[in-house]
Amino acid sequence: MSASCGAPPGRSASVWPVNDARVLRFPDGFRWGAATSAHQVEGGNTRNDWWRFEATPGAIRGGRGSGDACRHYERFEEDFDLAAADGHTAHRLSLEWSRLEPEPGRFDPAEVAHYHAVLGALRARGMEPVVTLHHFTNPLWIADRGGWESRETIDRFVAFARFCAAEFGAEVDWWCTVNEPEVFAFRGWAEGVWPPAVRDRSRALVVIAHQLEAHGRAYRAIHEADRVDADGDGHAARVGFAKHHVQLEALRAWHPLDRLVAHFERRVFNEAVERAAVDGRIALEIPCARAVRRDVPELKGALDWFGLNYYTRWRVQAFAEPPHVATPGAPVNDLGWEVWPDGLRRALHAAGRTGAPVLVTENGVADAHDALRPRAIVEFAEAMHRAIAEGVPVRGYLHWSLLDNFEWADGWHGRFGLYGVDERDPGAPRVRRRSAEVFARLARANAVTPDVREAAGLA
Ligand code: GAL
Repeated sequence: MSASCGAPPGRSASVWPVNDARVLRFPDGFRWGAATSAHQVEGGNTRNDWWRFEATPGAIRGGRGSGDACRHYERFEEDFDLAAADGHTAHRLSLEWSRLEPEPGRFDPAEVAHYHAVLGALRARGMEPVVTLHHFTNPLWIADRGGWESRETIDRFVAFARFCAAEFGAEVDWWCTVNEPEVFAFRGWAEGVWPPAVRDRSRALVVIAHQLEAHGRAYRAIHEADRVDADGDGHAARVGFAKHHVQLEALRAWHPLDRLVAHFERRVFNEAVERAAVDGRIALEIPCARAVRRDVPELKGALDWFGLNYYTRWRVQAFAEPPHVATPGAPVNDLGWEVWPDGLRRALHAAGRTGAPVLVTENGVADAHDALRPRAIVEFAEAMHRAIAEGVPVRGYLHWSLLDNFEWADGWHGRFGLYGVDERDPGAPRVRRRSAEVFARLARANAVTPDVREAAGLA
């Protein structure tokens, strides 16, 4: 597919009068782009723990695993053409550990060359790479040696981070060590719906702590290994991690137990993780689980930027199934998650309290028919604009996702793409959604303009 993909040129914000109150301008240099992760889009990641897990009967909704995914491993150039034509100036992706290091300490030159080609393709199109080193998947050899419950994995991950920083540092300035330690741990070790399918909350807390410690130590390793300022902006490496901030509130505001449980969940899921990277103090406590408390010196201040992933709000109901529900009557996406744009503004304030500049590393809507997403993109941008006006230092926004992709245990049911992909025919042309056009106008204008609102059907 050609780079233009039928996209109209779009207008810069300068065509609107400076004092036009309908135009919400973002700061100069604000980054707009999309986010993906290797396993969800590449296809053929046979050497990681998710590939093995996907073969377990009943593990994946609908039964279809990642398979060829979006064939992005082969099609990355044309996918980046689409993003570039839509005015994206940044792109978040992950390096697949199991490809780069298929056996302990042995790095595969062909895969190293592949990722150089990927990063080069982004830079050639004027898109700044934001590179995640751990996005949920693990090489089989890591999983089989105890995975993230083992302290050895911390050492192995730090060595991997050091390797990547030295190898790719000339192409990358924005490094994201780990993605969502709390989601990774709770899904895999508490709910048991992701590998390694353990149901033990105490062990989940150990995993969060290990990922945080790994972040702190990788932060130092990356700064030592990457001294090349790829963008010429005075920073050789900027290192952060991505945190999933979910809004958790009592279902029944009057109910003391709903409020208490929501309070505990907020504390362990959001606040403890956000604070740990600032003061180096890990303090993870939930009822009926062994608390994890320790100070990690390398973690203190290990934050050049904070990556915020925001999707939804859950209402908490104590001692009931399911424990989390959407706000009754609120709009929900295809996975039943409430679409609540003001939650992004609030989450940005929480992120800003770390004192670090913030990148929105994920935000989006599972919406196969693109019914809610065009409007939601505008409303999320408006909420982010308010947060910036209120003083939160937000540097960019990476929409989840460029393409429909393999949505973990939900299989192919959550369709988050600006572009549609048919997983039964991942070689077919990507299908441009109206959302891609809304986002393109937003990115090109670096502002919410009447044009953007019109494309979203809001004018
Ligand atoms: C995040 C995750 C992504 C993607 C997204 C949508 O938790 O980092 O990989 O799956 O949710 O559910």
